[in-house]
Amino acid sequence: MKYLIGALGWAALAAYALPAFAASVGDKDAGRSIALQICSACHKVTAIQAKPRNDLGAPPFIQYARRPSTTEFQIRRFFQTPHQRMPNFQFTPEETDNLVAYILSLK
Ligand code: HEC
Repeated sequence: MKYLIGALGWAALAAYALPAFAASVGDKDAGRSIALQICSACHKVTAIQAKPRNDLGAPPFIQYARRPSTTEFQIRRFFQTPHQRMPNFQFTPEETDNLVAYILSLK
């Protein structure tokens, strides 16, 4: 049991420590084009984008990216959990990597 907890502890640590490396896996330009196509209906996804069509109070991506709490881990977890006010998109792992890379590039 002691060993199991030890292993889980390392796994949790790795999940926090890895993002800095894993973020470079995605293609931020591809992520940006997904964001412009899909997310921009509700979020301001670039610095120059005009107001989104839907005013639902969704945070602008730059503002979201710059929150200290926004990490790769947190973004991935957000995508994997159901939301009440945002559609639950099903992205391929590659699309997810690209979106994560794009959002983190706005930090
Ligand atoms: C139909 C409108 C809509 C679309 C389209 C949309 N969102 Fe959202 N999003 C919201 C709303 C509303 C919130 C704020 C409420 C919430 O957090 O559930 C939000 C919140 C978020 C958050 C912030 C979570 C936090 O911790 O504050 C992230 C990240 C996010 N969206 C990413 C995306 C991405 C990436 C896309 C495109 C793939 C997208 N959203 C498309 C409406 C939308």
